[in-house]
Parts: sequence; C-alpha cells; structure tokens
Amino acid sequence: MRAMRSSKSVTLKKETGSHFTPPELARFVASRIINVLRLDSLHSLTVLDPACGDGELLLAFAKSFPPDHLQRVTFLGVESDASALERARERLINLPMGRLELMNADFLGLCDGHQRQSELFQDALSRNACCENVDVIIANPPYVRTQVLGSQKAQDLARQFALSGRVDLYHAFLISMTESLFPGGIIGVITSNRYLSTNSGATIRQFLASQYDILEVFDLGDTKLFEASVLPSVFIGRRRPQNATDRKHSSHAARFVRIYEQFNEVDCGPRKEREADSVYTLLEAADTGIYRISGRRYKVSTGSLVLPPHSTEPWVMATSDERAWLNTVNTRAKFRVCDLAIVRVGIKTTADEVFIRKDWSDLPEDVRPEKELLLPLLSHDCADRWLAKGDCAQSRQVLYTHEIRKGLRATIELSEYPKASAYLQKHRTRLEARAYVREARRKWYEIWVPQDPAAWIQPKLVFPDIAPEPLFFYDLRGCIVDGNCYWIVLKPNQDPDLLFLIQGVANSSLMTHYHDLSFSNKLYAGRRRYLTQYVQKYPIPNPTAEPSRQIISLVKDLVSEPLPEQALGKIEYELELLVASAFGVDPVFAC
Ligand SMILES: C[S@@+](CC[C@H](N)C(=O)[O-])C[C@H]1O[C@@H](n2cnc3c(N)ncnc32)[C@H](O)[C@@H]1O
Repeated sequence: MRAMRSSKSVTLKKETGSHFTPPELARFVASRIINVLRLDSLHSLTVLDPACGDGELLLAFAKSFPPDHLQRVTFLGVESDASALERARERLINLPMGRLELMNADFLGLCDGHQRQSELFQDALSRNACCENVDVIIANPPYVRTQVLGSQKAQDLARQFALSGRVDLYHAFLISMTESLFPGGIIGVITSNRYLSTNSGATIRQFLASQYDILEVFDLGDTKLFEASVLPSVFIGRRRPQNATDRKHSSHAARFVRIYEQFNEVDCGPRKEREADSVYTLLEAADTGIYRISGRRYKVSTGSLVLPPHSTEPWVMATSDERAWLNTVNTRAKFRVCDLAIVRVGIKTTADEVFIRKDWSDLPEDVRPEKELLLPLLSHDCADRWLAKGDCAQSRQVLYTHEIRKGLRATIELSEYPKASAYLQKHRTRLEARAYVREARRKWYEIWVPQDPAAWIQPKLVFPDIAPEPLFFYDLRGCIVDGNCYWIVLKPNQDPDLLFLIQGVANSSLMTHYHDLSFSNKLYAGRRRYLTQYVQKYPIPNPTAEPSRQIISLVKDLVSEPLPEQALGKIEYELELLVASAFGVDPVFAC
C-alpha cells in the first residue's frame, strides 16, 4: 500500500503537487475538524476533498467520525488523476456512509461554474454538489510553485483568482475551496507553511483572515511528517457568514501550535525536557516546552495567534511571554535597518559557468578578460561571522560587464575590451540562450541582475541567504556579492559607525531569537532564511546610547583583523550583554 501510494516519479509529483498525506497526519486533521463540528444538531453533512488523490483524507475522516452518524454523511472527492481516483474508490466504497461521489475532474475548472464559466465539466448536478455549500472541506491541495507551473499558467491563475505576487497552485485552491464552503462550514487544510511568513503569502493571509474565524493553525516545521520538501502547516477555520467578511478580520482568538526540532536554538525557556512518544501526541496535547522523542529534541510553542494589523506582516506565533519580550525589544528600537541602510540581493548572472570562474589565469591570453573586469566575488562559502573566510573572495572572480559611464549605469563596450570580447564571443550561444535577457531586450553579454556598479566600493555587510546562524560579515575591499548572499550598505549621509552597530546586533543571539519569533521562517535541520524582507526589519537601538557606542567599538575590533577563538568568544560574550542591555532585556544565549 505504501509503495503504491508513493509510486509516482519525483518530477511528476512536483508538477502535479501530489505528495500524499501520511495516514497519521490525515487522522490528525480529520480529528481537529470533527472536534469543532456541532454534532448534536447534525442532520446531514457533506464533506469534500477537492484534490482527493487516493482518498486518504476522506478515509481518515470517515474512520474518525462517530459511527452512529456516518450514515448522514455524503463524501465528495474530486481528483484530476484517474488512477488515483480509482484507488480512492476502492478504499472508500465499502464504508457505511450516506453517499459517495467521486469525480475525475480539474477542481479549479469545475468550480469555475458560478462565477467563472466552466467548459471542463458538463454535469451541472455534480458541479453544484461540490462547488456550493459543502459543510466540511478536508484537503491537502497540490503545492506547485510558479517556476514549476510555468509563467503563463501562473498568470492565468493570478487573473482568475485575483492573486498577486508569486502564485502557487494551493493559493488558487484555497480561494476556490472557500467559495464551495457553506458559511459556518469548517475547513481543515494542509498546505506549505510558507504563506504564514513570506511576502508572497500576504494575499493568502489577508484572504484567510477575512473569510474565516481562524480556529487553529499548526506550523509543523521540520518535523518531517511529510515526504514533500516543503514544511507543512495545517489550517482549521470556520467560514464566516457573508456579511461578516467585510469586517477587517475576526476578533476570534485562534490557537497556534508550532513544533520545530531543536538544533541551534536560543533562549529555549525552561530547560526541563519531557519525554513524548510521537509528534502527534505533542500536537494533540500541545503544551509549550521542550520534548524528547527517540533521541531528538523538539520545541513546542502554543498560544493565541495574533493577526497583525497589516496583511503584509507575517502571522506571529509567539507565546504570551514571547510576545511581551518582542514588545519590549520593539519599544526600545530607535530605528529599523531599512531606515538606515539598503539591503539588496547579490548579482544573478543566469550563466554562472560563463561569468564566474576560479581559473581565469589558466585561460589562453587572447581570451583571458582584462584584469579590470575580473572582480573578486563573495559567495555563500566565504561567509563567516564578522569577516569573510581567509582570502575566499580572491579565489573566484566574476567577469563584471557593467560600469558607471558619465555618472550613469551602463554595460561595458566590448570594443574597449578585446580579450573579454573574445572570451564572451566564445560563449555567445550559451549567453544568447538566456530567455530572460533576450525577452527584456538586454545586451547578450549582460549580467541579468548586475546591481549598482557604483555601490560595490562602499563599506558593506554581506550575509548568506540560508544559514544555521547569523553570518553577517564586513567587506571593505569592493567585492562583488554573489546571488546566494545579500548585502547591506548605509544610505547616503549616515554615520559610517552605524554599519558596525547593525553588524553587532544582527550577529547576536538576541536577534536570532527575534528573527525566529517574528518571521517563523525556518528550514530543515535548523537552517534559517535570511532575506531582505526580514533583515530590513531588524530593530536597531539608539546609536548614541552607551551600550550602542560600546557595541560599535567592539565590532570595530572584530573586523579589523581575525582574532583567535578565545579572544573572539570573550568579545562575543560581551556583545551579547551589550545588545541585551541596549534593548532592555535579559541576555539571550544559544542553548
Ligand atoms: C497533495 S496531493 C493530495 C492527495 C490526497 N488528498 C492526500 O491528502 O493524500 C494533491 C492531489 O491533487 C491532485 N490534483 C492536482 N491538480 C488538481 C486539480 N486541478 N484538480 C483536482 N485534483 C488535482 C493531484 O493529482 C494529487 O493527487
């Protein structure tokens, strides 16, 4: 059975978003829904899974539902893959339910019916049955990102469902499913957890907050309950009456549960660990604390989900103590990083094998680009705290085909650089194959995202996009920054010392704790995402206050030359104390 459920190829799974739900997770979602149904007044119930695969979620719902009431339940399943649907039929057909209706169809096309005309599904009766007024939706809709969907399909979906930003197929499903749900009906849906914390999830956060009384949100983090590479979450909501959706969002207090494996956490709260037998036990009886399951440590946090006033902000899943801590830090912030500095991503060539090399000096002289065009490149593997590793930046150079000409950004003139020109001509076919560059009518030898050629020379902080801990390092050598890193330069006319204050704060355990609580964007194995949208919101204390002045002075020492480990540890310890004092909280240390 397991083999049969996972027999699709990896590519096909990616394209159709068909990572089937493990039975325990299916039972968990079913039980959370049944928990909030008002069974005493139940006459009949219609339950829909709009992308039912081989029926795991419907099966779990049927098995978890009180057997006395099962005769009153109609089960509806829609699935675009005929063979998966056949399997669902085999698994569900003999259960003692009221009615079972399974349809081989595209749910998004099917439910185009009432507001958008459907040509895909002719059976109006069935269409109405699953597109209007169902009482319960249980789903794990396909998760297919824009890159895999293709830009045309993504644009069509964006238009059809009034979505903006990076569209994922599950965004469209969330909207279509909501249209199918009776006001007062319950949805229990498994999705990626990305919408909770990313900019691209803003439309969906706003949509869910306006359409539902949010009952529970589970961020299942890196618990590996799922085969898919995305980190899953479960949303349980009650659709609000139509006239209530005009209000900004519900005042109803939603409960959240977050569970993440512990690797390099900071400020773990009570150190006492409890034993648990499975992640599901923790989810059912969620209680904030640290738990040990088969030698692994997990942190569970639970509390009320506080929706921010603006949907552009992430949903913060913090306990009341954590919220109080965040509040103190925010109150003591004099600035945010974005008030003082600009945070940008590094360059994106879209042909790294042509532009970035370690072996330029080995090339024949006639195709070895002119020295002034080969610039040192700081990449992910150079990242360390405070300074780049050794002479990492020198080991790899980028052929940088952009310059400032008469005060303006320009692409270099190849006629002025005959050797670079000869080298690039050799790779012309490869470079011209770059669809983005071609479609934007840019020159064939341009770097797709070159950033500002005048900005590299400024003192800057560089940090990798993904890392287990903050690695903000200082560069004064005018290096270019690769696209797997971001970089921070001060805005014009700012005091240069502010860059050291930003670095001291950004590299602290305090800010790591702040990052985790505010942005909840962790990946597997304790790695964190460091993106512009987060780092630019880091709070910065008053630069003229004594702790800030001392932070600046210590960071200057750290970036002036690499220090032996012991001396480094001592200064970092002092910095933790100073950063805590600058924000008026107790020091935070890794545990
Ligand atoms: C993540 S799987 C979930 C399957 C099942 N509900 C489960 O939880 O195990 C998503 C399913 O959606 C199906 N699917 C993808 N696009 C669809 C569409 N437009 N309409 C209906 N089903 C679709 C895929 O074939 C796949 O079986």
